[in-house]
Amino acid sequence: MVFIAPNHELPTRTWLSNLFSESPLSDEARSNLLAVKLGADKLDVGALVCACFGIGENTIKDAITCGAAKSVEDIGKQLKAGTNCGSCIPEIKKLFE
Ligand code: FES
Repeated sequence: MVFIAPNHELPTRTWLSNLFSESPLSDEARSNLLAVKLGADKLDVGALVCACFGIGENTIKDAITCGAAKSVEDIGKQLKAGTNCGSCIPEIKKLFE
């Protein structure tokens, strides 16, 4: 994959890779892709942290920064991240640091 842009402001790889899961690509998504902007309905969830539930780093950070989650257990209750295999728990703990 090759990214070409007039500056260093490239879209996140997560956003781009998520577009591959949309089939067929909507007209809005196609326009956003050409304009290199996230659609109004598409939040950048960030790098995948919890593979079991598809929860991204930005989603977890948002829960922490808005005060909704104060512990790994809170993240589990609210987002389910860390409540299956548990292999993402160390990474979730790091996001609290
Ligand atoms: S990767 Fe998060 S619970 Fe399995």
